[in-house]
Amino acid sequence: MTAKYYRIAVFAGDGIGPEIMKEALKVLKIVADRSAVELQLTHGLLGGSAYDACGTPFPEESLNLALESDAVLLGAVGGPKWEGLDYSVRPERALLGLREKLGLFANLRPVVVFDELVDASPLKPELVKGIDILILRELTGDVYFGRPRGVTRDAEGKRTGVNTMIYTEEEIRRIAGRAFELARGRRKKLLSVDKANVLETTELWRNVVTETGRDYPDVALGHMYVDNCAMQLVRHPAQFDVIVTTNLFGDILSDEAAMLTGSIGMLPSASLGAGRALYEPIHGSAPDIAGKNIANPLATILSVAMMLRHSLDLPDAAAAVEKAVADVLKDGWRTQDIHSPGSRLVGTAEMGDAVLKKLAGPGR
Ligand code: IPM
Ligand code: MG
Repeated sequence: MTAKYYRIAVFAGDGIGPEIMKEALKVLKIVADRSAVELQLTHGLLGGSAYDACGTPFPEESLNLALESDAVLLGAVGGPKWEGLDYSVRPERALLGLREKLGLFANLRPVVVFDELVDASPLKPELVKGIDILILRELTGDVYFGRPRGVTRDAEGKRTGVNTMIYTEEEIRRIAGRAFELARGRRKKLLSVDKANVLETTELWRNVVTETGRDYPDVALGHMYVDNCAMQLVRHPAQFDVIVTTNLFGDILSDEAAMLTGSIGMLPSASLGAGRALYEPIHGSAPDIAGKNIANPLATILSVAMMLRHSLDLPDAAAAVEKAVADVLKDGWRTQDIHSPGSRLVGTAEMGDAVLKKLAGPGR
């Protein structure tokens, strides 16, 4: 049988990006070696490190690399070093540029609480045990991309800032369709989150999601205002299964939901478009802990698992990686963000090696 061939663009990025990426690539390589796939990994520059090297956070070459690849694996971008730069060349622009140019409109952020980490959550164990939520965030619309935008000055020099919250019905229908499909593959329960009591854009959101739902009579659709959802996520998170929401609300709610799992260092993500995909941990570049071998690589390793599942058609390998992560946690290995008395405190590289060892272990 000939091996399937995939091109993967790798952008380690800034801050802890290179450290966590190194561990994730170890995992990817061992899995690829024993599956019927051949991977061509090409590294590119993105974010602050790209700005330092070529004066732009999003070099043309990197965009082309991403466009020519079957999937993109990203570490993290940004850091205080680049915060004073003009908005147009900030590292974050590269991430937004990639999302836009690759048309990655569907951002999957699974929030899964591993049994072993129930005590690492700031919430009571009985609230978070068994939590398995999928946040589906629309990723290429809303105030993130809407125009007009910017800061203007009037004749007296007084400044006004403007951003535009905007969604077309096609954009809403597209993400809603994905949401219903995903819900169908899970517990057939979908919650759409909006602010339809105040914002017309999200009233349209609610209406179009409801219309789309007519094609999915087997999925129970509910609606919730975003402020209430923020509250319910910490009051009674077990009520949620799939949540679909707008770009900005999804950004905020997914950070909040991450804490259910104990650490934002545990959350992977997949950003999918028509035939394109990008995988990245949802935490940022964590410049304060960069270069110290203490960052948690598990979110990036779990992002690799998502890539195996969604882009490389290797669901068994994805499950094996997820199980290896769960097993390592079961054995008590912890990076400092999820450490508690009695567990084994390890660094970034040791955590990566522990996952590798599980994957290489007998019977796999
Ligand atoms: C995220 C991040 C990004 C966003 C930033 C880094 C631009 O917070 O992926 O959630 O706001 O989308
Ligand atoms: Mg965010």
